[in-house]
Amino acid sequence: MKFFIDTADIDDIKELAATGLLDGVTTNPSLIKKSGRKFFEVIEEICGVIEGPVSAETVATDHKTMLEEGRRLAGIAKNIAVKVPLTVDGLKTCKTLSDDGVMVNVTLCFSATQALLSAKAGAAFVSPFVGRLDDISEDGMALIEDIRLIFDNYDFATEILVASVRSPMHVLEAARIGADVATIPADVLRKLFDHPLTDKGLATFIQDWEDTGESIL
Ligand code: G3P
Repeated sequence: MKFFIDTADIDDIKELAATGLLDGVTTNPSLIKKSGRKFFEVIEEICGVIEGPVSAETVATDHKTMLEEGRRLAGIAKNIAVKVPLTVDGLKTCKTLSDDGVMVNVTLCFSATQALLSAKAGAAFVSPFVGRLDDISEDGMALIEDIRLIFDNYDFATEILVASVRSPMHVLEAARIGADVATIPADVLRKLFDHPLTDKGLATFIQDWEDTGESIL
């Protein structure tokens, strides 16, 4: 499963990219606002740090303007994935951009039939929001299971990008189901490295090694 980081914070992106475990970045208007940075400036900087797909979101709601925005965003760098909302206009824009060879990430997906439409529109990625479904007492991961089944039934190439990830358990479940990508907030990604038994075991190994008086180098 690919790991994308769900942030527009360049320091977090640089720090976690240095692990060699980051495959891409997703942003949205809320994350851009949170960064306090200018949209184009921050997206260009991210594209300079990350080789994999970098999602940048359109904000128009009509097809014509959304398409213009999408083309402008796609011009920033080769690794831009243009993010469009899961609406009729968004899917029309997805089809046009995808036919032109632009990577499109269809966002705000909350049902399996919406995901099916995204795949038919040629999306490179579809982003089901698991956390926001859990928030309203629906089963976010059940949606991922349904989409996996449907995409496998028809060999759709569209990648399932699990979004609105809130915890390491979401990452685990996404991997169990066979999602293609999870886009993970920086704090959740950092938690994936941690286990108290790793810390405890390492402390013992270091102490025991010191007691031997030996040295590797
Ligand atoms: O990028 C979209 C998505 O991951 C948003 O997550 O936590 O705002 O529901 P959240």
